[in-house]
Amino acid sequence: MAPRENFSSRLSVIVAMAGSAIGLGNIWRFPYLAGEQGGATFVFAYILATLFITLPLFLSEIIIGRRSRSNARDAMGVLAPKSRFWKNIGILAVLIPIIINSYYSVIGGWSLDYMIKSMTPGFFHASPGEVSRVFSDFISSPWEPIAMHLVFLGISVLVVARGVKTGIEKFSKIILPVLFVLVIVIAVYSISLPGAMAGVSYLFKPDFSKLTPETFAYAMGQSFYSLSVGMGAIITYGSYVRKEENIMVSSAWTGISDLVFALLAGLAIMPAVFAAGIEPGSGPGLIFQSVPYIFAEMGSGVPLLSAVISTLFFLAVVVAAMTSCVSLIEVGVAWLMERFNLRRSAACKWIFLVCGVLGVLCSLSFGPLNDLHIAGRTLFDFFDWASSNILLLLMGLLVVIFVGHVMKKADVRDEITNSGGFKGNFRLFGIFYFLVRWVCPVAVLVIFFFNFLG
Ligand code: PFF
Repeated sequence: MAPRENFSSRLSVIVAMAGSAIGLGNIWRFPYLAGEQGGATFVFAYILATLFITLPLFLSEIIIGRRSRSNARDAMGVLAPKSRFWKNIGILAVLIPIIINSYYSVIGGWSLDYMIKSMTPGFFHASPGEVSRVFSDFISSPWEPIAMHLVFLGISVLVVARGVKTGIEKFSKIILPVLFVLVIVIAVYSISLPGAMAGVSYLFKPDFSKLTPETFAYAMGQSFYSLSVGMGAIITYGSYVRKEENIMVSSAWTGISDLVFALLAGLAIMPAVFAAGIEPGSGPGLIFQSVPYIFAEMGSGVPLLSAVISTLFFLAVVVAAMTSCVSLIEVGVAWLMERFNLRRSAACKWIFLVCGVLGVLCSLSFGPLNDLHIAGRTLFDFFDWASSNILLLLMGLLVVIFVGHVMKKADVRDEITNSGGFKGNFRLFGIFYFLVRWVCPVAVLVIFFFNFLG
């Protein structure tokens, strides 16, 4: 078997992990969930969950990955070789990314389609109502979204096929800075629209009387989703992190950039939603209905300007989605390569096949398969709900129990302090260990049962 690859530097680790974290979860999911779940109250719960639960979990996944130097399916079994439970439970870490990837690449396909539509004359003459109609006609028409889903997935698979350094690392390094700049420009413009301030208050002025367990449940699910935890991706990337990296620093940077990016995306979308009179709780279509309106206004009288900015924006969304999709694909690919001794290219083909087919079914759930329901939800909604509100939490719970109660404390400390090399991390280790051992399992368990029973 080929030797295991590594990321080449600290910057590469941060960029690849931030590339996995920053994606549709920030640009597409965070604004619409905030819209549905009461705006600032949700944002408040989201920040709390990220700092105290998700970040420690993120670090735990890197620890498991780096220490085991194994794919996500086998990592916990490698560290606890005597336990059948930990040897087998890792299968969840391979299944969850496949489920998420299937519907994730459908939304990636929508973004690709909107990038192309942005270059089409006439797209920006539409009124907000017309924009919504264009969107619902598009997602319910069977062929176009399916074709886009397969193209999006295909390109992502090709990046993974090029390997960790030449594919994943290089790709993320180029794209992330572009994305940040674009979202900042759009946020500034969006805030300057007439009536936009209502959107800013909606995002940042919490009404604590509206803080319910449900808000926390959705916020925690979103926070896990956004930082890519609870699904093997960070375990897998962690296994490519060299021994001499300071993983606490890498985690902190990834967490901060992900949080800042989500807030920026909220600021780009929500003020414009209010300015356009769109309902903030409009669900998954929110950015596809609000963003074309923003750009039409931005370039009013100059259609070429609208076309250029909108094309760039959706290009950035597509690429951000791809750096995340790439990390989802890598989980399955790393496992197939190590378990079945497959070549990288062969493993990629299998993942394309499985996620491609499941994604087609998800895409059809907006049209011909709309009546097919599981647990009262369409297939697309069921995949999204089951993965982010149930499976991610379950996997996250297992990870914190593993690091907090199964691994030896000294081993965990070794990973965080690099066997004592990073003296500054000793004090932080105490806080981290307390959160992982007690706070995270209790919080995740409570929310898990709340979701499961609700
Ligand atoms: N964190 C990604 C986002 O916010 O779009 C989604 C994601 C990527 C989830 C990779 C899970 C994962 F393994």
